[in-house]
Amino acid sequence: MADLNVSLLPWQQEVWEDPTRFKVVAAGRRTGKSRYAAWGLIINALSETKGQVFYVAPTQGQARDIMWQLLLELGHEVIASAHVNNLQIKLINGCNISLKGADRPETMRGVSLKFLVMDEYADMKPEVWEQILRPALADQKGHALFIGTPMGRNHFYDLYTYASVGKDDDWTGYHYTSYDNPLLDPEEIKAAEKSMSAFSFRQEFMASFEAHGSELFKEEDVQFSEEEPADGAYYIAVDLAGFADVQKVTTKTKRLDQTAIAVVKAGVDGWWVANIIHGRWGVKETARRIFDAVRDYQPVAVGIEKGALKNAVFPYLNDIMKQNQRFFRIEELTHGNKKKTDRIVWALQGRIEHGNLSLNKGKWNAQFLDELFQFPNPLVHDDLIDALAYIDQLAKVAYAIDYEEDDYEYLDKYAGY
Ligand SMILES: Nc1ncnc2c1ncn2[C@@H]1O[C@H](COP(=O)(O)OP(=O)(O)O)[C@@H](O)[C@H]1O
Ligand SMILES: [Mg+2]
Repeated sequence: MADLNVSLLPWQQEVWEDPTRFKVVAAGRRTGKSRYAAWGLIINALSETKGQVFYVAPTQGQARDIMWQLLLELGHEVIASAHVNNLQIKLINGCNISLKGADRPETMRGVSLKFLVMDEYADMKPEVWEQILRPALADQKGHALFIGTPMGRNHFYDLYTYASVGKDDDWTGYHYTSYDNPLLDPEEIKAAEKSMSAFSFRQEFMASFEAHGSELFKEEDVQFSEEEPADGAYYIAVDLAGFADVQKVTTKTKRLDQTAIAVVKAGVDGWWVANIIHGRWGVKETARRIFDAVRDYQPVAVGIEKGALKNAVFPYLNDIMKQNQRFFRIEELTHGNKKKTDRIVWALQGRIEHGNLSLNKGKWNAQFLDELFQFPNPLVHDDLIDALAYIDQLAKVAYAIDYEEDDYEYLDKYAGY
């Protein structure tokens, strides 16, 4: 190892000196996690113990992008051969370092490992560790390093907590922020902070495991399904944004209030959110988008929140209907007397918790989930979830569970429009 020029940052040195078998390192972006992992892979691979060394990232592509060049660069003195096709590097002692994607667990079975790194662990399914990789460490009593930036209170949080509480001597947990990398200019971190929401900054740079927002909606409850359910009917609810005003800019996110058109197929199994079309448009364009959504999805009911904005868009919508000779009725949606927060929680929380709501995949997912998990953070918009919550007023559908004991009549099938 004489030729390796290992130099570690202070936090990396601290983790390195700890002989614990399983280490969990939660750290912010650019803290030096991957580089630490690379040294760990090389040095462990050079040890005399039998067995292979794995580096696992959420996908094989990520594994290659993060680790391939880095290993070649740091390990060039001790590398015998490198095969990018199978992402394998053989060191001069014959030990292989393989880069793997957790999305392809079938490529990881049946090996004996002396050392394993799981990078961006918050982003992968924990079964890969539990069912495939933990057993692979058994014969050599191999060691493992879990690293990543937090992503709410998911399995990474659980593992970090387990490792940190100190009840199991085989595990240690470490926590660092991006400020722990002395090579990173603190001014850069401050600049990033200005351009991000407070929550994201805390998560990404300060490696905070806080739950999204107030935890009214939990990440693990959200279900996806790309398949349109056979049963049910489409409903469209629209939450309009001001057409020209720019006063609602929040200082942190700099994002504008948007119009959101929620398209949901509601049936006996619950809601399937087909799409949430959103954007900041002028009044004409907004009318056009609503018309197009109705044409595309053929809903049994369309609702728009009552008020000045609806009154403004209505004549344009009427014009487009006339031009196209296609007419549909628009229901007026109302706040009732409920506060917006209550209305959203009321409409969505039970459905999401009970698995009665699933999301089609689409570009709108990222913004929707961001709003959902941070709700009701006053710095984050809620246009998409607000539009979705309005579906509740339109779709009076039978569900497995009762959400409200008011005057809605629960039918066997969706209510006829
Ligand atoms: N021990 C080290 N010596 C020199 N540079 C380092 C060291 N550790 C991290 N760095 C540098 O810090 C930056 C962030 O490191 P990286 O490992 O990519 O962070 P992370 O995986 O936490 O995002 C990179 O430019 C990397 O080269
Ligand atoms: Mg990294």
